[in-house]
Amino acid sequence: MKLILSGLLVGAVLGLMVPGPALGEDACVACHMKVSPGMVNDWSISQHAENEVGCADCHGDAHSTAEDYLKAVLPDEQVCGECHEEQFESFAKGKHNHGWTVLNAIPATHYAPDELIEGGRGCGGCHNMGIKSEAQKQDQRDKGYRYQNNSCDECHTRHTFAKKEAADPHACQQCHMGYDHPQWEMWSSSKHGERYFAKLAGNLPESASAPTCQTCHLPDGTHENHTAWGFLGVRLPLPEDPQAAADRVTILKALGVLNPETGEPTAILDAVKAVDMARLDEASWQKERDKMLAICSQCHSTAYAKEQLDAGDSILTKADRLMAEAIEIVAGLYKDGIIQKPEQYPFNYPFILALMHTNGSQWDENLQDLSYIDQVLLQMYFKHRMRAYQGFFHVNPDYAYWYGWNMMTQDLGEIVELDKSMRAQHALQK
Ligand code: HEC
Ligand code: HEC
Ligand code: HEC
Ligand code: HEC
Ligand code: HEC
Ligand code: HEC
Ligand code: HEC
Ligand code: HEC
Repeated sequence: MKLILSGLLVGAVLGLMVPGPALGEDACVACHMKVSPGMVNDWSISQHAENEVGCADCHGDAHSTAEDYLKAVLPDEQVCGECHEEQFESFAKGKHNHGWTVLNAIPATHYAPDELIEGGRGCGGCHNMGIKSEAQKQDQRDKGYRYQNNSCDECHTRHTFAKKEAADPHACQQCHMGYDHPQWEMWSSSKHGERYFAKLAGNLPESASAPTCQTCHLPDGTHENHTAWGFLGVRLPLPEDPQAAADRVTILKALGVLNPETGEPTAILDAVKAVDMARLDEASWQKERDKMLAICSQCHSTAYAKEQLDAGDSILTKADRLMAEAIEIVAGLYKDGIIQKPEQYPFNYPFILALMHTNGSQWDENLQDLSYIDQVLLQMYFKHRMRAYQGFFHVNPDYAYWYGWNMMTQDLGEIVELDKSMRAQHALQK
């Protein structure tokens, strides 16, 4: 089968179509050999071709001419699930399944150009993760976008759909890199990553141990991913230490999860719960931590690994001391009327979640004057606090210190200075 196909492919590329037995059998392949030979090639070298899963199994057979191609079904995850139920079910329980919903829950998303969301070249390029509801699909079509119906091909790219490709840590790189989640950079320049690349280069034997993203986050073929802390690095219950507890509360207020005046939970907490953005009880946090510790213990002593993970937790507490101090300074400017509450803000208080990944000019006119100090606060939370503690978990000294902790202290210094000058300017204007 493979030989015949690649023979035909060469023929097609040269414009010398050689009719063979496979050609008449599969009209899709025959025509697409001319229309899109690269794609047919990728399919022909896949396990699908080997197992006689053809174009029509995924795309249906309603389209058959060059003109009616809009009748072709663009398959969603359910189609894959018909033959791969285990992976489908497991993916559906994991954090990736919330990617698209979480993106759309952020106010800034709706101010960003559609090209960057539904078009898939910005936030939407990474957040095309998760089984979309009918309403979400309709919304996408209403905006004129037809593709991005499938998240399985984010790790097993089409049309090879290979297991080996998804098991390579490079499969995660496109999305787990950059501003607020540089896991690729942290892992690849850590000793864990260095050993992986040494193996690739043949400088370590093939059997040498070197944990990849998949070793720690998708062990044993599972498609269900979760971590203890999660992206926001907050959780419940509050820590026992009174200062640490107060700092966490300050952060929860700035996330809009607690009402800054009453301390009561808000509707935003329900939204956070719905997409599993944070562990809200001890047991669900501990469950993930125990799983991770067991993985580290395949190669390290449990005591060694535990000390490393505990250090990650305690640096987060220390980072939160700096963070809370910064939030309180900016909150003081709101309280004293020196910063005017933007219309979309739920409270007269800094609001980190709404600001996420954006700046004043990307919002509508009402927010164009968003203060610079708010933007420094946002950067401190998403870019630098993230690096300070994730650098520990990913065993990367440079991210933990220079790109993380050190930058947080700089942000706090800048916020202190800005507070002084904003207050002085305000006093002059009175
Ligand atoms: C007579 C030629 C021909 C046949 C037969 C044919 N296709 Fe196509 N198909 C095309 C052309 C032409 C396009 C449009 C390509 C383009 O936009 O560059 C297309 C597009 C597609 C698309 C993409 C749709 C989109 O929105 O981008 C899919 C999927 C597809 N075909 C699948 C199939 C399947 C499955 C079969 C068999 C059931 C099939 N094709 C049979 C010519 C054909
Ligand atoms: C295992 C399922 C599967 C099989 C088999 C399959 N496709 Fe696809 N195909 C997909 C998925 C998934 C997409 C992406 C859909 C999206 O982005 O909405 C896709 C997208 C496409 C597209 C449009 C996107 C692009 O990159 O141009 C074309 C054209 C296409 N397939 C043609 C084919 C042809 C021809 C065959 C047979 C040689 C085939 N497909 C076999 C799953 C499959
Ligand atoms: C009609 C059934 C069918 C559909 C639909 C289908 N597959 Fe498969 N798939 C198979 C078979 C059969 C194999 C080979 C045996 C196996 O590994 O289960 C396979 C193998 C695979 C593999 C392993 C390849 C390797 O390198 O070992 C991956 C990954 C995969 N499919 C992904 C997908 C994705 C993603 C979709 C949807 C876009 C999909 N499949 C749709 C039947 C299907
Ligand atoms: C380069 C890929 C990429 C881009 C672009 C991107 N994100 Fe993300 N986003 C991710 C990854 C990866 C995570 C998970 C990171 C982690 O947990 O450390 C994430 C996490 C999130 C989360 C938290 C999810 C949760 O449940 O904890 C939100 C909210 C979010 N992104 C919103 C956005 C918005 C809004 C944009 C555009 C303005 C955007 N993202 C752009 C890759 C991206
Ligand atoms: C975040 C990346 C990622 C996504 C998204 C993803 N997979 Fe996978 N998949 C993997 C990894 C990693 C493996 C290899 C596991 C291993 O080495 O045992 C794998 C393996 C597979 C296999 C081969 C199983 C076997 O042991 O032969 C199938 C089939 C498969 N995935 C289907 C799917 C389907 C269906 C979806 C969408 C619902 C999907 N995958 C989405 C990462 C992913
Ligand atoms: C040696 C194991 C290990 C490797 C290898 C590893 N991670 Fe992690 N990762 C962790 C630990 C530990 C955490 C923190 C878990 C927690 O919250 O307690 C984490 C957290 C995360 C988070 C969530 C953010 C957070 O702070 O909770 C993401 C996303 C992530 N890793 C992605 C990756 C990616 C992508 C790779 C590969 C480029 C990778 N990791 C490599 C162990 C690992
Ligand atoms: C197409 C982009 C994309 C790819 C590829 C991708 N991810 Fe993700 N990942 C995301 C997004 C977006 C999120 C956040 C989803 C959410 O929480 O709503 C995420 C979340 C995660 C989390 C959970 C973090 C938490 O908050 O608990 C882990 C762990 C993770 N990814 C690991 C991986 C690994 C390992 C790979 C490679 C095998 C991978 N991802 C490939 C986009 C991607
Ligand atoms: C698949 C095996 C494997 C797993 C799983 C693994 N490690 Fe490692 N780790 C290694 C190897 C090998 C080294 C390199 C030993 C050295 O530095 O001499 C290493 C090094 C380290 C180092 C030292 C880095 C340095 O700068 O010297 C730390 C810290 C570490 N690992 C923590 C962890 C933690 C925490 C986990 C779990 C989240 C983990 N490891 C999971 C194999 C593993």
